[in-house]
Amino acid sequence: MTSTTDRYPFSMPSGWFAVAESPDVEVGQTKAIYYFASHMVLWRDEEGTAHVQDAYCPHLGAHLGHGGLVDGCNIVCPFHGWKFDGEGCNSEIPYSDRTNKKARVYTYPVLERNGFIYAWYHPARQAPTWEVEEIDDVANGNYYGPKRFTHVVEAAIQEMGENAVDSAHFRYVHNVAEVPEIIRYESDGHRSYMESNQKFPTPRGVVNGEINSTADGPGVSVVRFAGIVDTLLMTATTPVDAEHTQTRFNFYVRNLGDESVNSSVGEAFANEVIKQFTEDLPIWTHKAHIVRPALADSDGPFMKYRKWYSQFYADHPSAEEQAAEERTVYPAPYWPDRMDEVPGKGTASVKYGGSAL
Ligand code: FES
Ligand SMILES: [Fe+2]
Repeated sequence: MTSTTDRYPFSMPSGWFAVAESPDVEVGQTKAIYYFASHMVLWRDEEGTAHVQDAYCPHLGAHLGHGGLVDGCNIVCPFHGWKFDGEGCNSEIPYSDRTNKKARVYTYPVLERNGFIYAWYHPARQAPTWEVEEIDDVANGNYYGPKRFTHVVEAAIQEMGENAVDSAHFRYVHNVAEVPEIIRYESDGHRSYMESNQKFPTPRGVVNGEINSTADGPGVSVVRFAGIVDTLLMTATTPVDAEHTQTRFNFYVRNLGDESVNSSVGEAFANEVIKQFTEDLPIWTHKAHIVRPALADSDGPFMKYRKWYSQFYADHPSAEEQAAEERTVYPAPYWPDRMDEVPGKGTASVKYGGSAL
């Protein structure tokens, strides 16, 4: 059985996905969150460990993220006071001598690193098959940041990711001086690597830059830019559902030793990336997914990217199912009030340090 939507021939991929950034949830705090088309609760226990669990209390269904309290290393349901531990086991019923062993709250595997709280999503709830790599530069003081940006995009996570291998669009959507040249694209299991050269416009003229990016599954990537100044972009993309994706960008610049220089360089870097992201939005929102795209010789490695990506769909159509599928164009919905959205017209609500959700 293949899980798809009307809009795309695929559903949500499995992997590690950011569900928050570390400062978003303090010790003792609970928070309602919604990703993977599921209501969930995020909470941090008194030892500082973050937990991500299904929202609904197995007793009578209260949402643990709306009024739930943290008590030590347990979460307390706001409805009748039942307590659940970090594994989702019922640890106390305040008006009963015995706990209920059958009352379990599904608990997502969680990793907190690189400034993000990542949860592992798998549609059949299978255990993680890798861990997100720890990036030393996020915490070692060599880099300044992060400057944060987040936005929810009306497109599938796979469609957004395809942007990186699409070298030609940089010229036409983002107005860069020349089409970037992809000099390496390789994958190894859940990871993929891309190196490209790109000319950046600066107030002092065009500068040659190098971009190296590593994807750690579909939800996490680390992008390093060198040329003008060394910058690091930690990106996290998370399916809200099969047709909506939350993007989080954390921008860092190599510490130049002066707070105000760091800040202005960081700001310029972030603004350029956010400008490009804003330009991409109407394309992602309104484009169709083309199953068999008509490509030029010098287009980027789209089909390699799609092949790498297909491993993350636990319920991906088999080769026979794909061959039997006659539909090859999956258009976006018709939004009559949004017919005049075009790239570069500033349709993103750009906001630092907060969520655009
Ligand atoms: S619904 Fe949670 S304790 Fe009753
Ligand atoms: Fe783009």
